[in-house]
Amino acid sequence: MSIAGKAMKITTKTLQEMKQAGEKITMLTAYDFSMARILDGAGIDVILVGDSASNVMAGNDTTVPITLDQMIYHAQCVVNGVNRALIVCDMPFGSYQGDSRQALNSAIRIMKESGSHAVKLEGGAEVVESIERILTAGIPVMGHLGLTPQSIYKFGTYSVRAREEEEAAKLIEDAKLLEAAGCFAIVLEKIPADLAAKVTAAVNIPTIGIGAGSEVDGQVLVIHDLIGLTHEFNPRFLRRYLNLYDEMTKAVGEYINDVRSQDFPNDEERYS
Ligand code: KIV
Repeated sequence: MSIAGKAMKITTKTLQEMKQAGEKITMLTAYDFSMARILDGAGIDVILVGDSASNVMAGNDTTVPITLDQMIYHAQCVVNGVNRALIVCDMPFGSYQGDSRQALNSAIRIMKESGSHAVKLEGGAEVVESIERILTAGIPVMGHLGLTPQSIYKFGTYSVRAREEEEAAKLIEDAKLLEAAGCFAIVLEKIPADLAAKVTAAVNIPTIGIGAGSEVDGQVLVIHDLIGLTHEFNPRFLRRYLNLYDEMTKAVGEYINDVRSQDFPNDEERYS
């Protein structure tokens, strides 16, 4: 049986063993109880309470506005729906960039108030001190390199990162720094597949890709993209498994018709 198949609970150690055994790690986002329960029941290894909640739950254009309190709320909801998966909660913009003490306080709030198992934050060398400080409290940290959406106003675009040699070299160095600081895994977002493969070979901790090709240790997608709720978002890396936007629109249309035509509720759908 596979390592993930044997695990009653997925831990950071399980992920490390999976990398060593060449077993792919599966990760998806969730922001609420009902979705988390489905993903956990289906056997997902890691659930990320992503700050993409700012986009797909709140309808903001970027991940910048979401607050620490809001992330903690989403993470609490997810924790209530999960028995087996490792739950990682994003540290939102503004909750860790100030200094390492602020980062530690924010991470402690996430762990204590939500029941998450780990935190994730974006960046390389600039956040290493914060990562080390968070780790002193025994809080596992996942890194995030490549496209880092919290820096959208610095980069001005969500296009592929690290195509230039200089940025690619920095990314490899950053990955090594994150490993040395003690991160248990690194998300690689929207970078050339060859570079993601090099990073994966250069570090001993698992790499989880999104738009980073197949030569990484695992894959992550935003659940709303996978099930087709975000039907206008069509990046090359995305594989849709459902088209829920259209299916739900159809279902709601049928409900409206049934109510208006007095077909719903019928005799079996009422109490005597
Ligand atoms: O917030 C998020 O959903 C993420 C994933 C895209 C990795 O960080």
